[in-house]
Amino acid sequence: MTVINQIEGNKSGGMNGTVIVPGDKSISHRAVLFGSIAEGKTEIDGFLNGADCRSTISCMRHLGINIEESEARVIVNGKGLFGLDKSETVLDTGNSGTTFRLISGILSGQEFESHLDGDSSIRKRPMGRIIKPLTMMGAKIKSENNNDLAPLSICPSSLHGIDYKTPVASAQVKSAILLAGLYADGETYVTEPVKSRDHTERMLGAFGANISINGNRVGISDHPSLKGMKITVPGDISSAAYFLAAGLIVPNSCITVLNVGINPTRSGIIDVIKEMGGNIVLENKRIESGEPVADITVRTSALHGIDISGDIIPALIDEIPVISVMASVADGTTTIRDASELRVKESDRVKTVTENLRAMGADIEPHEDGMTIIGGRPLHGAYIHTYKDHRLAMSMAVAGLIADGVTSFDDSSCVYVSYPGFFESLKKIRK
Ligand code: S3P
Repeated sequence: MTVINQIEGNKSGGMNGTVIVPGDKSISHRAVLFGSIAEGKTEIDGFLNGADCRSTISCMRHLGINIEESEARVIVNGKGLFGLDKSETVLDTGNSGTTFRLISGILSGQEFESHLDGDSSIRKRPMGRIIKPLTMMGAKIKSENNNDLAPLSICPSSLHGIDYKTPVASAQVKSAILLAGLYADGETYVTEPVKSRDHTERMLGAFGANISINGNRVGISDHPSLKGMKITVPGDISSAAYFLAAGLIVPNSCITVLNVGINPTRSGIIDVIKEMGGNIVLENKRIESGEPVADITVRTSALHGIDISGDIIPALIDEIPVISVMASVADGTTTIRDASELRVKESDRVKTVTENLRAMGADIEPHEDGMTIIGGRPLHGAYIHTYKDHRLAMSMAVAGLIADGVTSFDDSSCVYVSYPGFFESLKKIRK
């Protein structure tokens, strides 16, 4: 991986070419987790070899699962629902909220004790949102400092199904409950206020779980026999988003991103680009491993500001930092509301996006649940504080492409969390 700590802005040429982004992070995590508790081999092609998904592999190895790796193929030798062994060490989820929350659901159903921890960002993120429903199911979980934050200890217990209404639309919460539901007696249901990404339902169903879906309510039956399978992971739309934004805002550009997952619970950014007036075309639409995929081409466009709020938010929550960059160069005002979840991501993204875009000259006002951005102010290079947040770093790199002067980063190595080759890909298509 090349770590670039500087981007020279406003070069004369455009961004032109084809990009293949790494595998989807959410799907890669799930393939390893579900493969581990299925019987037999799960072969994963296109696995995202970034720090977050490596944390999932490492945790499952500590739990006794043999995982083989070669190039972009990972083979998980699953041992069935009750095949995991007690870990001799604290399970370290690194920066990965998905690893932490999903694995908590699995560990709640085990006959051994587990201890879970992560980095300084993980230790600030709300875990009460999983502790509460898992405890209602009978799980014995304590946050070691009694504050609903990592580190957590999970003790053996017997679980029973619940019918839970979650106050937040969160795929991590939904998935933790459904995974615990595999070990719980009876049926388990989760109802969300708005539907979050549905990779868990799709993939667990393909592994053999009995899943029912009724609007925003998902149900799962206990003790299924999950069978290992082959999974091809599509390119991550959240990683593609940086190139879609760059192709739209850098003059004289045309970028095609191949093989991008366009699951409707993830593809809100495509709707936003269209509504902002962006020239975007989806071709070669197909289904791979139960997930819709397409090749996406964007061309430089005159964007205009829009309002983004309501039910679309979960489908683009991770793309809001780069959408804010597009909004900064768009004509008129963009308002983002109903996105208070931004406050509890890898960094407080309302604060960190506002601070960095302001440093570059943007007109941006934070709100408790989003921000208002008045576009059209010329951006200039600045010193970016990434707060070790991968999506913030990559979004500000995109802003740096159209800024006057040089944009530098205190630490851009965090891109390794979801897109180890990000700076190489950027360099390849920049004239
Ligand atoms: C994810 C769910 C989302 C998303 C995160 C990945 C997942 O988080 O922001 O990057 O893979 O389930 P929440 O469940 O907290 O909304």
